[in-house]
Amino acid sequence: MTDLDSLRTTYLARVADAADAGMLEEVRLAALGKKGEISLKMRELGRMTPEERQTTGAALNRLKDEIDAALRAKKTALDDAALDERLRGEWLDVTLPGRPRPAGTIHPVSQVTEEVTAIFADMGFAVAEGPQVESDWFNFDALNIPPEHPARQEHDTFFMHRAEGDDRPPHVLRTHTSPVQIRAMQETGAPIRVIAPGRVYRMDMDQTHTPMFHQVEGLAIGRDISMANLKWTLEEFCRAFFELDEVELRFRASHFPFTEPSAEVDIRCSWEGGTLKLGQGDSWLEILGSGMVHPKVLQAGGIDPTKWQGFAFGMGIDRIAMLKYGIPDLRAFFESDLRWLRHYGFAAGDVPSVAGGLSR
Ligand code: PHE
Repeated sequence: MTDLDSLRTTYLARVADAADAGMLEEVRLAALGKKGEISLKMRELGRMTPEERQTTGAALNRLKDEIDAALRAKKTALDDAALDERLRGEWLDVTLPGRPRPAGTIHPVSQVTEEVTAIFADMGFAVAEGPQVESDWFNFDALNIPPEHPARQEHDTFFMHRAEGDDRPPHVLRTHTSPVQIRAMQETGAPIRVIAPGRVYRMDMDQTHTPMFHQVEGLAIGRDISMANLKWTLEEFCRAFFELDEVELRFRASHFPFTEPSAEVDIRCSWEGGTLKLGQGDSWLEILGSGMVHPKVLQAGGIDPTKWQGFAFGMGIDRIAMLKYGIPDLRAFFESDLRWLRHYGFAAGDVPSVAGGLSR
């Protein structure tokens, strides 16, 4: 019996000492688990005489129940303590005065990217992504721009370094978001409806050009998607983005190797009094490039051009941000001047949504 007494003392002490649920479980296993000390003792009952079994068995059962009860009580105590602790940690005084607006702001490029994404999401476009360091094939060849094509020179490409003796064409900093068209087609196949916002790079620098800027690509492929769908989509976008009741777009025949036919799109505007006003007037302002995706481009994307067709467009995010928010100099976007950022930046709570209003 002293044997059981010492087991009792040991385990009740260990239960009392357990500081958390994990330790308590260890104690339970050591006592009552399959290989626990008390369980092993129970098993020894088989080898006893019936008289011994009766007394020892009853004592063992009592001990087991006692430890079990202690374990449960301790578990409840630990749970209560944990809950108290959590409640104390999450305590919130809702009567405190509000904190002042944080000093940081959302950059206009981020804000406009969110706005564009919200508008196209509303029209069923998902967001696709691709790398900024791109292979020469995705940036050019797959888009029907072969190595000697003059368009390669026009892109003012930044080339990445290759090791001495490595003759493969160097990777490039993507010069447009169009390579994401190819990646998205390869990943998803047709039908597909995506936009791809992101950074692009060209060796250029003046008031309206920076070596890094942002574009958003659009791609919609289906059985019979046409130029008419392109026109409606872009008009709908411009109305929502520029928050105008009426917009007028002009499609001007143009050329891109990756679309056929191709069109540059202008928006009606006026410069009266030296300020730009979109939606009315006698002037036109170019805002994007577009067209019907070239069959070779569909092929490069793994899509059968005899069965599928669609449109693509590419638009400068910084450019439409400048137009919408009246920001005169593109270079200021990337100078991290705090005064500029506070003036043109957005508050963290200004989450654009089509239903809730894009800008406030
Ligand atoms: N990639 C073109 C550019 O950067 C824009 C474009 C995209 C034109 C898709 C047509 C279709 O100028």
